[in-house]
Amino acid sequence: MLENLDKIRSKFSEELKAIDSNDKLEKLRVAFLGKKGLVTEELKNIKNLANDVKKVAGKELNILKNEIEAAIAQYQKTLEEMEYQKEIDNAEVYDYSIPSEKPVGTLHPISIVQKQIEDIFKTMGFVIEDGLEIQTEYNNFEAVNIPKNHPARDMQDTYYLENGQILKTHTSAAQNTIMKKYGAPNPGETLKVLFPGRCFRNENLDASHENTFFQLEGMMIGEDISISNLIYFMRVLLTEVFERDVKVRLRPGYFPFVEPGFELDINCEICGGDGCTTCKNTGWIELLPCGMIHPNVLSMGGIDPEKYTGFAFGLGLTRLAMMKYNIKDIRLFNGGNLKQLKQFVK
Ligand code: DAH
Repeated sequence: MLENLDKIRSKFSEELKAIDSNDKLEKLRVAFLGKKGLVTEELKNIKNLANDVKKVAGKELNILKNEIEAAIAQYQKTLEEMEYQKEIDNAEVYDYSIPSEKPVGTLHPISIVQKQIEDIFKTMGFVIEDGLEIQTEYNNFEAVNIPKNHPARDMQDTYYLENGQILKTHTSAAQNTIMKKYGAPNPGETLKVLFPGRCFRNENLDASHENTFFQLEGMMIGEDISISNLIYFMRVLLTEVFERDVKVRLRPGYFPFVEPGFELDINCEICGGDGCTTCKNTGWIELLPCGMIHPNVLSMGGIDPEKYTGFAFGLGLTRLAMMKYNIKDIRLFNGGNLKQLKQFVK
């Protein structure tokens, strides 16, 4: 009987070597472990054996059965790997380094201008922050000195979510979080942050109003920051972006979160100052509202207004891109017309 088992064992190993498919493997399994398989037949014979060999034979048979089962399972994996290797060998070979024949993507004109400004400000020591698009009413309004029922909220109607949060109406919504994140600067140092972002408002759409647009805000806080610093940085910004001298005018402007506040307008680049729909026939475009950060805003951000001052500006990034690329209608930016958008890529 035991001899028989050895024969079965070597027969199985021999036949297994020739197997090259799952079907054949299954047939082999049936031939050894199936109802009429060699091992099964031996198992049936046990009852005819003498009592003293029965136990040993039973044990040995079980060992053989387990061996065969394990070998089959193992071989199944080998077959899978062989199959996989075959697929790889037969697969078409791609060279990913060959340049695509189809047109590749391009940056959106707003991204181009945003990156350009980020680069300018990075060289002047500004860090770039990313404000959230979904904001609390507190961050968007209260924290920048626009309490509930303040009339300034009227001009910034927006989309309210069911949980009471809102889509931010301006990048200023990140001021409080940024002040709390960085805290007051060390003595002799300044906090300089640039935070671009997508903003949303409930607007009647026309050539210069969109419900979704981009702003880019900046803030500089220190023990000795004045309006001169503000004017210096704004001038660098505009000269670099337009790569030429642009006509600007500074006039007082009211924003609850700055005191004093200013409007920095640039000469309308679309009509050259003669008046058009984009500049509402004034010849000027409001581009860069700015001012000295209101003491209330500093305190709410955890920065002592007795000790620190700072300036902030909120650049209309979308408008700037319109001016830079001479785009007459703001709706083009979100319109998804690639033919129109692609022409601004250098
Ligand atoms: N958040 C203002 C708006 O969207 C723009 C603004 C004005 C930002 C003055 C500022 C600022 O930082 O100083 O209308």
